[in-house]
Amino acid sequence: MLNRQIFLTGMPGSGKSALGRRAAKEVGTPFIDLDSWIEERAGISIPEIFEKYGEAGFRRMETGALTFLTRTPPGIIALGGGAAMNEVNRKIMRNYGSVLLIDRPVERILTDLDAENRPLLKEDPEGKLRELYDQRMPTYRQLADVTIRNDGEFQATLNLLVRVLKERYHA
Ligand code: S3P
Repeated sequence: MLNRQIFLTGMPGSGKSALGRRAAKEVGTPFIDLDSWIEERAGISIPEIFEKYGEAGFRRMETGALTFLTRTPPGIIALGGGAAMNEVNRKIMRNYGSVLLIDRPVERILTDLDAENRPLLKEDPEGKLRELYDQRMPTYRQLADVTIRNDGEFQATLNLLVRVLKERYHA
């Protein structure tokens, strides 16, 4: 049983959701993908939320969801890439759990990025991703308790993540 919430942060396309889902299965702990959780409750997709309520509306839902989920039993929570850029969200993460950064080099992300379902990247995926990478990485690094490098085989990164969960967080 995990001894606290584990928040996975990192850039869009860094592997937070895929790694988190698989790692949770391996260690037998709950897994929540914050964006999917929001989509289910809103009944519409993230691009539709952006269209209907703007980015500000989405950010309010994101903070609301995060606040709610801190009260659920400890598990792995994969965040959207922008969640860590908000001070309130960072406080929630620090107070209720530990933050693991999935650190994937921007060149790697670009090889298989799905920009269609990411409204912030839609116009100019490569340019915008590089811009966000430069803006966000310092904040992610400062916030993270552990950094998991994801620049090789998925399985190797997964093994590393599982080891960290077991050794540091008693999963
Ligand atoms: C966002 C990333 C997305 C999603 C939303 C905003 C961001 O999640 O939360 O489109 O600000 O980087 P992923 O990191 O899973 O792409």
